[in-house]
Amino acid sequence: MPTSEEIHKRRTAAVARGVGSVISSYVDHAGGGTLTDVDGREWIDFASGIAVTSVGNSAPRVVEAVREQVARFTHTCFMVAPYESYVAVAETLNALTPGGFDKRTALFNSGAEAVENAVKIARHATGRPAIVVFDHAYHGRTNLTMAMTAKNMPYKHRFGPFAGEIYRVPMSYPFRDGGLSGAEAAARALDQVDKQVGAANVAAVIAEPIQGEGGFVVPADGFLPALAAWCRDAGALFVADEIQTGFCRTGSWFACEWEGAVSGAAARAHVADPRRGHARREEWAPDLVTIAKGIAGGLPLGGVTGRAEIMDAVHPGGLGGTYGGNPLACAAALAAIETMRELDLAAAARRIESVTMPRLRALAERDPRIGDVRGRGAMLAVEIVAPGTIIPDAATAGAVSAACHRSGLLTLTCGTYGNVLRFLPPLVIGDTTLARALEILDGAFDTTT
Ligand SMILES: Cc1ncc(COP(=O)(O)O)c(C=O)c1O
Repeated sequence: MPTSEEIHKRRTAAVARGVGSVISSYVDHAGGGTLTDVDGREWIDFASGIAVTSVGNSAPRVVEAVREQVARFTHTCFMVAPYESYVAVAETLNALTPGGFDKRTALFNSGAEAVENAVKIARHATGRPAIVVFDHAYHGRTNLTMAMTAKNMPYKHRFGPFAGEIYRVPMSYPFRDGGLSGAEAAARALDQVDKQVGAANVAAVIAEPIQGEGGFVVPADGFLPALAAWCRDAGALFVADEIQTGFCRTGSWFACEWEGAVSGAAARAHVADPRRGHARREEWAPDLVTIAKGIAGGLPLGGVTGRAEIMDAVHPGGLGGTYGGNPLACAAALAAIETMRELDLAAAARRIESVTMPRLRALAERDPRIGDVRGRGAMLAVEIVAPGTIIPDAATAGAVSAACHRSGLLTLTCGTYGNVLRFLPPLVIGDTTLARALEILDGAFDTTT
């Protein structure tokens, strides 16, 4: 087996420079919260392939389901010769995503493709052009989703011109907006929409319930429901981009449930159990949800799930693609979701938070470079600043991350200013591995001056 150094040399001569990697060690195998590289070195995985392998790498059910499917057939194209597993994934997503209403689903290959299709569907269903997105948003790297993504470097620089009719407004960012309430931050954003776009032109407002690449920004309570309520009144759609936050990552099936969105499971229980009484008035649900990443245990799958009348507004043949909802990805998704249910990975994410959050808060108490500790479930982060200020310190965030790497902990940075250190362990990570990771993180802060 060639060493990482040897492979890296070949890579430099063969792979385009624009495709980067966080580390230059090459993976041999992975599972149970660790990666082992071709040099035999073990890494604790606090990245999960950017929030993908929530059920772990090589999760047994996923491996078995894909093995079985690959032996039966690999691809027919659902648009040509359909198969049951696509329908089963759609049924499962319709039941799991927030909202008790009738839903439909369409499957694609990636997150960006899911977002692109949510925009297509929203424009088609409303007959309106404008799409509202937020500061610090990340929605992908295709032409349309680059326009929706906020950060220039590295995502957009010299890749324009970008798609039109995308309007960016301020996000609720409690650490940086002077502590505006969710309602105040929503009013600030929506006032701009009213004045600069016009409510009658808006097809959809698209928001990440917790921003991912933009810095794990958790909006103030009430921000998302206020956006959804404005959309309802304006005849626009509210789209939750749950690509990074979905599938138990934040300790519930979908992150907008933390903001009062009625969960699909709870909605069904409500119908089944009349003793629960009427739905709470503050309950709401996004009209469309975009899904990818954690859904399929590492196989590429994306989707849009939403209100039946909106999804079905599009004419037959208007949505699709050669590989969308590929049978291997569908088999993996059904197995991954079964694993999430069986192991109660939403509870596992909450447990990761209950162990990690106090450690991060203690670290912040003794290290003034940590300006903010935030996140939910197994989507946690610290924001690094010049002590006593909110001035971003990307150099220290990068140095601490590099120190983690030297000690065998794979961490990622993120944020518009590159100064957020984020933690995305697989939800199946064991207690001992998690404890070891947190020790490495403590040590990395202590040794980085
Ligand atoms: C919130 C969000 N939307 C969209 C995307 C794009 O997904 P993909 O990389 O699968 O195209 C990402 C990826 O990080 C994301 O976090």
